[in-house]
Amino acid sequence: MKRYRDIAGDGGSNIAGQVEAQQAKLRQRLASVGAIVAVVSGKGGVGKSALTANLACCFALDGWRVGVLDADLNGPTQAKVLGVRGRRLAMAAGGVEPPVNELGVKVMSMDLLLPGDATPLTWDAPIQDEAHTWRGSMEANAVREFLADTNWGTLDVLLLDLPPGIDRLATIASLAPIAGIVVVTIPSDVSHLVVRRSITAAAQTKAPVLGLVENMAGLFPGPDAARLAADAGIALLGRVPFDPALAVAADRGEAFVATAPYRDSVRALRRIADVVRAALSAPRAQSPS
Ligand SMILES: Nc1ncnc2c1ncn2[C@@H]1O[C@H](COP(=O)(O)OP(=O)(O)O)[C@@H](O)[C@H]1O
Ligand SMILES: [Mg+2]
Repeated sequence: MKRYRDIAGDGGSNIAGQVEAQQAKLRQRLASVGAIVAVVSGKGGVGKSALTANLACCFALDGWRVGVLDADLNGPTQAKVLGVRGRRLAMAAGGVEPPVNELGVKVMSMDLLLPGDATPLTWDAPIQDEAHTWRGSMEANAVREFLADTNWGTLDVLLLDLPPGIDRLATIASLAPIAGIVVVTIPSDVSHLVVRRSITAAAQTKAPVLGLVENMAGLFPGPDAARLAADAGIALLGRVPFDPALAVAADRGEAFVATAPYRDSVRALRRIADVVRAALSAPRAQSPS
């Protein structure tokens, strides 16, 4: 077996060149994306994906060109929630054509690549037992490829639906400039316990934390999200009430904000979308170049 010291340079693999080429492709792709917004929560099941999809639809209704990248590689739900599940991915010049939902939202998700309903995502490693060791870097590569290889076209905003846990945010922030982070909680002590740490981690990425959304408001007599936001020094963007109709629409892949504009939950979502849009348009949210 060769050791490092036996190999001259990088052994002819030109790793530095490959990485630079990948980065250049990513930069070029993102040059036509106005702003990238990450929706995060340390907690699972709080509605990150539902919020991402609904905000995407709000922006689309307001005339923005919108993309959604499902960065939850192990639990991808955006294709389902945005109603593009089962669409075939078309290859076109320069990349993969993302399916488009009824409001024109472009969607890319691991779900569109996995065969069948029961196939979990697995990573190939030279030795399968080592796959878990490489998982972090393979996930980062997969997200980079999704970002770079999708024909997003010109977008006003690209929303990233992140998996639960906050470590992935730092990875993504190192790949692409994040113009804003939206943190999601539900009104429970358990959620606040985790989300408080998420806010700290979000702030450490240096990307602007646009604020906190309390989702499923009114479902439990839990702690006040306004207090959590104030303690953390971030804005409370709004509260989305618990609304069974929202969950039904998500399961059906319907654009709830378009079909049920009169519901309190939709009014709340549209107000939150307005605040996010205003924040993205403000100079402070411009990503550093
Ligand atoms: N405000 C809400 N009212 C009712 N159901 C909701 C609400 N927000 C999310 N849900 C539902 O709760 C479940 C979990 O939401 P999801 O977006 O998948 O969470 P996460 O992405 O944080 O894991 C889904 O079935 C979703 O449709
Ligand atoms: Mg999710």
